[in-house]
Amino acid sequence: MRLLVTGGAGFIGANFVHRTVEDRPDVRVTVLDKLTYAGNRASLDPVADRIAFVRGDVADAALVDRLVADSDLVVHFAAESHNDNSLGDPAPFVHTNLVGTFTLLEAVRKHGVRYHHISTDEVYGDLDLDDPARFTESTPYNPSSPYSSTKAGSDLLVRAWVRSFGVAATLSNCSNNYGPYQHVEKFIPRQITNVLDGVRPRLYGSGRNVRDWIHVDDHNSAVWTIIDKGEIGQTYLIGADGETDNRTVVETILELCGRDPGDFDFVTDRPGHDLRYAIDSTRLRTELGWSPRYGDFRSGLAATVDWYRSHEDWWRPQKAATERAYARTETILE
Ligand code: NAD
Ligand code: DAU
Repeated sequence: MRLLVTGGAGFIGANFVHRTVEDRPDVRVTVLDKLTYAGNRASLDPVADRIAFVRGDVADAALVDRLVADSDLVVHFAAESHNDNSLGDPAPFVHTNLVGTFTLLEAVRKHGVRYHHISTDEVYGDLDLDDPARFTESTPYNPSSPYSSTKAGSDLLVRAWVRSFGVAATLSNCSNNYGPYQHVEKFIPRQITNVLDGVRPRLYGSGRNVRDWIHVDDHNSAVWTIIDKGEIGQTYLIGADGETDNRTVVETILELCGRDPGDFDFVTDRPGHDLRYAIDSTRLRTELGWSPRYGDFRSGLAATVDWYRSHEDWWRPQKAATERAYARTETILE
């Protein structure tokens, strides 16, 4: 089988490529990635001699047409993925997340290629802290940020291409991932690397916002389950019952690093900051028989701390510029 992975030099895409190469030697993998600030060729070093890599834009119709014509399956991870960046400049989010997805859909339509669309639980907006509800496949879309609204738009494009043109697509919406190779702009790697650098972690606002953490390998095993067994045209929510507030995450990282768990700062809140995400993944578990391997968030986090401790060469080149960008908008609160 010939597999095209877009965004394969990013966090989740690179982990997906590693697993695929290990577990499915019959799959011939090609990665298409623009290598934006978020893409890193080094994330593919462990499998570099077993894949093909093409540097390019998912919105480049001629390139995408050529690559899709030579594929049996496309898994579309490529995106502008960071909410804070989307508040500073939404333009690349519209280009990559909307125009890029449109471009891929036109190519898979033309060549009759199977497509899996990677999306986020943020398309559903947020939940109150004391709301017993969780997101399901029938929760109405209500995105808050330029990032999540462009992801929501891309999901709707996929659904329309399935219904109007018979494109053979499945969709998945996953909660917050953590694990190796995640860019240091994101919450968990930012705080781990701050602590390793002797800098106090930074919590937005009250620190009470809740995210539903899932290990990246569990996300990716769910993606393969949906590709193997999912029903065309259907959406599956991916989550591992990992609801944790941000303050607890930071306290746990500090503890795991042998530091005082109170040794953090509160900083200015993110505008429009979603309060809580929570996934009900019953459909994926009961209809397709998937279950996560990393049941325990604390031990997954400990393994992630160890990974960043032993891979400073991977994250160090991005750290200073990332912190300089945050310093432009972030104020430490008394
Ligand atoms: P990331 O930012 O780490 O990686 C994105 C990758 O896409 C990078 O390698 C980048 O170079 C590439 N890219 C960006 N624009 C491109 C373009 N125009 N053409 C080709 N390549 C381009 O993102 P991630 O966290 O790995 O997220 C991957 C996907 O998973 C995204 O679609 C995101 O919406 C979705 N998702 C992420 C999470 C999460 O917690 N990180 C959770 C649910 C869903
Ligand atoms: O829910 C899935 C989404 O999770 C994905 O679609 C996105 O691509 C991914 O970036 C992530 O979005 P979040 O905005 O939830 O992730 P982020 O890592 O930016 O922040 C997680 C939480 O931590 C959020 O409540 C904001 C907070 N935060 C973040 C940073 C960077 C802090 O308190 N301090 C920080 O320094």
